[in-house]
Amino acid sequence: MQMKLLEDRIRAEGRAMDERVLLVDSFLNHQVDTELMLEIGREFKRLFADSGITRIVTVESSGIAPAAMTALEMGLPLVIMKKYPSPRNQEGTLETEVFSFTKNSPYMLTIKTKYITPGDRILLIDDFLANGEAAFGCIRLVEEAGAQIAGIGTVICKSFQPGKKKLEEAGYRVEALADVAYMAKDVIRYVGEAE
Ligand code: G4P
Repeated sequence: MQMKLLEDRIRAEGRAMDERVLLVDSFLNHQVDTELMLEIGREFKRLFADSGITRIVTVESSGIAPAAMTALEMGLPLVIMKKYPSPRNQEGTLETEVFSFTKNSPYMLTIKTKYITPGDRILLIDDFLANGEAAFGCIRLVEEAGAQIAGIGTVICKSFQPGKKKLEEAGYRVEALADVAYMAKDVIRYVGEAE
């Protein structure tokens, strides 16, 4: 379900650096428009209201703002998965390696098991969905903790990269508030728009 307010903001302020990277640091990744984040939280609440969600999960750092507003709107706890450069093997902690194609490097995604309990129904919220590596890393940890992924919400999806399709093929529900079909320098085309 695409969100016009967000699509318009991306058109006004977003910059396609090249065919792969969209810069939105005036309202999402560096400076944060909290009013817009609140609207995003409301939209995710609307989309996932009937999914029996018990907890919101995100990955540090740019996922935190939209995820916090979603948690606030839904009246649910927010849990932030942490990133470390190498394994820590701490007791009571689960970890998994994730490879970032954008940064061309791996990192360890970790979570304390006390913040996800068996039976939890998790809504995973993040800022970008590209190759889906971060999302699949989160899924591994949530499922290892005995909880279930009830949905995935991304503020911006780049559908020309494989993440969304791979997640949907694996059976997960994915909702993107802005779904980019094609990008080139200073050109953005959303899914559903004519070429
Ligand atoms: P993936 O998880 O979907 O496979 O994506 P990838 O590893 O390639 O993404 C790595 C980082 O780059 C993530 O941020 C992701 O949010 C960000 N990213 C991916 N595509 C874009 C894009 O087009 N524009 C911008 N601005 N960011 C993008 P991160 O490393 O987790 O950093 P943080 O910003 O959350 O701290």
